[in-house]
Amino acid sequence: MDNEKEKAIGVFDSGVGGLTVFRELMKQMPRERLIFFGDTARVPYGSKSKETVTRYSEQIIRFLRTQNVKAIVAACNTASALALDDIEKNADFPIIGVVKPGAYAASQATKNGKIGLIGTEATISSGMYERLLKDINPDARIIGKACPLFVPLVEEGLLDDPVTTEIAGRYLAGLIDSGIDTLIMGCTHYPLIKDTLQKTVGDAVKLINPAYETARECSLMLEEKGLLNDKDIELGETAYRFFVSDEAEKFKSIANMILPLGILGAKKIAIEDY
Ligand code: DGL
Repeated sequence: MDNEKEKAIGVFDSGVGGLTVFRELMKQMPRERLIFFGDTARVPYGSKSKETVTRYSEQIIRFLRTQNVKAIVAACNTASALALDDIEKNADFPIIGVVKPGAYAASQATKNGKIGLIGTEATISSGMYERLLKDINPDARIIGKACPLFVPLVEEGLLDDPVTTEIAGRYLAGLIDSGIDTLIMGCTHYPLIKDTLQKTVGDAVKLINPAYETARECSLMLEEKGLLNDKDIELGETAYRFFVSDEAEKFKSIANMILPLGILGAKKIAIEDY
């Protein structure tokens, strides 16, 4: 494709969860072609080291660049928190993660400066959200809580289930006690249990969805660079393409639970070769 604007945006995640970001991109940028890579063979990233997550992310970016994308969205909170700083420094192409837009939105939303953050072990212990929030508002108090059980609960489809409600109650009790007025859903899977989370923390706490904020930020970034596609596209299989590093079947069934349109398939890639 010769016209830079008509090229696709590459989106990647450790697995299927990043489709919550993909879904927002579809909604907010209906003229954009999108290519998704889910690292289903190596998920989860949330319990891995910075070095490993950075190496994985670099391989995926090399793969996406072979697909001739015009920009890349790191949809994974863990990859954004652990790897993106280093990758961004050397990047000669537009790349955006979910952590910065999420942190910015939370800093705008809080009134009392007490912000809760939930995510994987790696995202919480990286301190990245905290650093960014402190840069914007040095008085902000960030209370982080790793919630590792949410990812498997979502992948089992237990979105509105007493087990998920029970676990949410236990995980979030400390955050509620500390008086947060804003809660960042700092993991790709959490927007899928938004209702359970909102019921648990109560309506006075504002939930921040980094997926939504990232799609907005991506649209602004492409507009600024003159890269937004201005022609209508035919939605469906040619506009949206999916790649994975493990078998496609499980990916397909969860993808069809998350996305507003059914996907016919995903192509398996030997990601270690990149
Ligand atoms: N995609 C990851 C994230 O947003 C969650 C799953 C994982 O641990 O890889 O942090």
